[in-house]
Amino acid sequence: MAPYFNILRVVLAYAASASATTFAKYAACQSTLKPKLLPTLSCPAGTIFVSQTDKNAHFTSVQAAVTSLPNDTSPAYILIGAGTYQEAVNVSRIGPTTLLGQTDHPASYAQNLVTIFNTTFINQTTQNAAILDNADSAVLTVAPNKYAAWTGAGYYGGTPVPIPDDFGCTDFKAYNINFENRAANGGVGPALAFGIGFANASFYASTFRGMQDTMFIGKNGSAVFRKSQVLGSVDYIYGFGTAYFDQSLIGSRGAGCTTAWKGTPNYTNTYGAYFSHSSVVRSPDANPSLDLTGQQTLGRPWNNASVVVYMDSFMDSSINPAGFQIWSPTDPRNETIYYAEQGSHGPGFNASARVSFDHLLTAKQASQNFTIEKIFGGLPTWVDWDF
Ligand SMILES: *[C@@H]1O[C@H](CO)[C@@H](O)[C@H](O)[C@H]1NC(C)=O
Ligand SMILES: *[C@@H]1O[C@H](CO)[C@@H](O)[C@H](O)[C@H]1NC(C)=O
Ligand SMILES: *[C@@H]1O[C@H](CO)[C@@H](O)[C@H](O)[C@H]1NC(C)=O
Ligand SMILES: *[C@@H]1O[C@H](CO)[C@@H](O)[C@H](O)[C@H]1NC(C)=O
Ligand SMILES: *[C@@H]1O[C@H](CO)[C@@H](O)[C@H](O)[C@H]1NC(C)=O
Ligand SMILES: *[C@@H]1O[C@H](CO)[C@@H](O)[C@H](O)[C@H]1NC(C)=O
Ligand SMILES: *[C@@H]1O[C@H](CO)[C@@H](O)[C@H](O)[C@H]1NC(C)=O
Ligand SMILES: *[C@@H]1O[C@H](CO)[C@@H](O)[C@H](O)[C@H]1NC(C)=O
Ligand SMILES: *[C@@H]1O[C@H](CO)[C@@H](O)[C@H](O)[C@H]1NC(C)=O
Ligand SMILES: *[C@@H]1O[C@H](CO)[C@@H](O)[C@H](O)[C@H]1NC(C)=O
Ligand SMILES: *[C@@H]1O[C@H](CO)[C@@H](O)[C@H](O)[C@H]1NC(C)=O
Repeated sequence: MAPYFNILRVVLAYAASASATTFAKYAACQSTLKPKLLPTLSCPAGTIFVSQTDKNAHFTSVQAAVTSLPNDTSPAYILIGAGTYQEAVNVSRIGPTTLLGQTDHPASYAQNLVTIFNTTFINQTTQNAAILDNADSAVLTVAPNKYAAWTGAGYYGGTPVPIPDDFGCTDFKAYNINFENRAANGGVGPALAFGIGFANASFYASTFRGMQDTMFIGKNGSAVFRKSQVLGSVDYIYGFGTAYFDQSLIGSRGAGCTTAWKGTPNYTNTYGAYFSHSSVVRSPDANPSLDLTGQQTLGRPWNNASVVVYMDSFMDSSINPAGFQIWSPTDPRNETIYYAEQGSHGPGFNASARVSFDHLLTAKQASQNFTIEKIFGGLPTWVDWDF
């Protein structure tokens, strides 16, 4: 490489880092305004570039870039060029792995330029639950192997699926990427945009779009979502693991439940779905002909150890006045669950109409058990708290 090129590189990298704001540390790398010749110039060393159109790209699909990474503990970065990618992405490597979507507006998902979608869904009429699982529909999977992200009974072809010995990715991150399962538009069955098991992942200014079962936070899985958006209809945030949503929009595209959570003491992470400083509303892209007033509940117990807590969150009139719901009249599962709200506000919150098993907490009470440190057993080191 010619010396002047190195100088140019240093100057440009400096200019780029100086322009990056504190919260968006990859802004320079993600920018579309970077020199055409070296799109990854202002990115972390070794960043792999994916683009369908740029001839400097290392790969044209995200999965090809992920597959090229060594399965070790080294950090890896993938910059995804502006575009719409139809594929399924499977991250099973163990080391820190960061996907960056190209954007000139890293603070918000509203102007994201990168969308990854697929159209696979599970037809529950014809599904053979022994060999086909909701996990098979996911657009993004973060798990050490196929069975680690399974939703269901844990049998494959009649043989019990072993609980994995391995933990998958210890630190997966995605910034400014839309993950969409577009099969779901007719409400045809489980159609995941994202599934995780035996791994830790966090998302920033990213969106997840589906209908039924948009995202699954599975066994021994933990996920944190900051300034992100999740859209769906039936049980669209569901799982066994620990999910924490901060300053995010949770939007209903049809009648249903925001969460269907299952508790299990089998894994070392605590479990539950937690929402902080978020909005639970009618989805901005819901079919305008639908009257969704009161059509969404905050959750139903997938098992009797379900834990769901909303804190300081806005709720619009799509939220049913009762708040949460039982599983079914013959199997209510509401005796040993823990459902709570603190600081809920907006037309979707009516304290006197809430179900009896909803704990309405004060801020002081909520802080006893539901700070981020209490939920995760310490502040997760795998989360970008500057964003
Ligand atoms: C989903 O993604 C996979 C992997 O890229 C691809 O082979 C498949 O055709 C896609 N399926 C659908 C239904 O789009
Ligand atoms: C990476 O290694 C882990 C732990 O050994 C394993 O579970 C996972 O399947 C491996 N992934 C790949 C792509 O080899
Ligand atoms: C992802 O990759 C792992 C390791 O190669 C493999 O075991 C698993 O079946 C893959 N998962 C999916 C959903 O393709
Ligand atoms: C699911 O399978 C059933 C039975 O084959 C079929 O009638 C139905 O159309 C399928 N649903 C979808 C959405 O493809
Ligand atoms: C938890 O472990 C018990 C005992 O091994 C097992 O029966 C049960 O299915 C496990 N639950 C989950 C959710 O893995
Ligand atoms: C759950 O994951 C942690 C790593 O975060 C690991 O130490 C532990 O053994 C896992 N537990 C089970 C039951 O797999
Ligand atoms: C909770 O569910 C477990 C597993 O199905 C069952 O053994 C237990 O009796 C249930 N507890 C209550 C209070 O219903
Ligand atoms: C709140 O719920 C109570 C009990 O169902 C009802 O009487 C009251 O009218 C509701 N308030 C509003 C503002 O809808
Ligand atoms: C559970 O739900 C049933 C049916 O709605 C109700 O009768 C019962 O009081 C509820 N139990 C608790 C603890 O709220
Ligand atoms: C916090 O958790 C402890 C232990 O489970 C429990 O005794 C206490 O009642 C909880 N506090 C609130 C406000 O729910
Ligand atoms: C996954 O996250 C949990 C909660 O922060 C943490 O206790 C655990 O150690 C993490 N696992 C790994 C392998 O980093």
